Amino acid sequence: MNKRLIFVLLGFGFSLSAFAQSAPATAVARGEYIIRITGCNDCHTPGYAEKGGNIPTAQWLTGNPVGFKGPWGVSYPVNLRLLMQSLTEDQWVNFSKNLQARPPMPWFTMQMISDSDLRATYQFVSLLGPAGVQSPAFVPPGGEIKTKYIDFVPTSAKHWNGFSHITAK
Ligand code: HEC
Repeated sequence: MNKRLIFVLLGFGFSLSAFAQSAPATAVARGEYIIRITGCNDCHTPGYAEKGGNIPTAQWLTGNPVGFKGPWGVSYPVNLRLLMQSLTEDQWVNFSKNLQARPPMPWFTMQMISDSDLRATYQFVSLLGPAGVQSPAFVPPGGEIKTKYIDFVPTSAKHWNGFSHITAK
């Protein structure tokens, strides 16, 4: 075998192994990208909006102790670092596809995320590992609120309840 052929074969081998290794890394990078652009951090990462998104990934998705108060009660963005840790990748896909949650969680858009993109988000968040504590439990309408919260009802529309389909339950 001449030297040139050996180099070509070696090069081919290296690029094949580089390809094999880059596949999961690509999914993880895509997972990070999807989480970043779909706005999960806006609610599920404390201080994200206040700091203009300048929060290290290590602190992402640890849930939020500040609730959203509306006609549905007070809802708290869940700690996804702990939630996803408790599920397998298949369970996460299934969970997301069937998710219905209180406002302002955009569960309806979450149901539209493709399986492969959901798997990518799972792989990214799994790699970050568990962090933080559970978010406070949901407070039903009229219940005692022990945390800070964002009032999600425009004051000029106090008597408007566009969420009657949820609060009627
Ligand atoms: C506007 C704020 C907001 C955004 C944006 C948001 N969430 Fe949520 N999310 C919430 C709140 C609040 C809850 C709790 C809802 C409840 O009490 O039913 C929640 C609940 C969830 C749950 C349900 C957890 C459970 O145990 O039932 C999942 C999963 C979730 N969010 C994932 C995501 C992902 C992934 C994204 C980005 C694609 C995202 N959320 C974007 C506010 C938000």
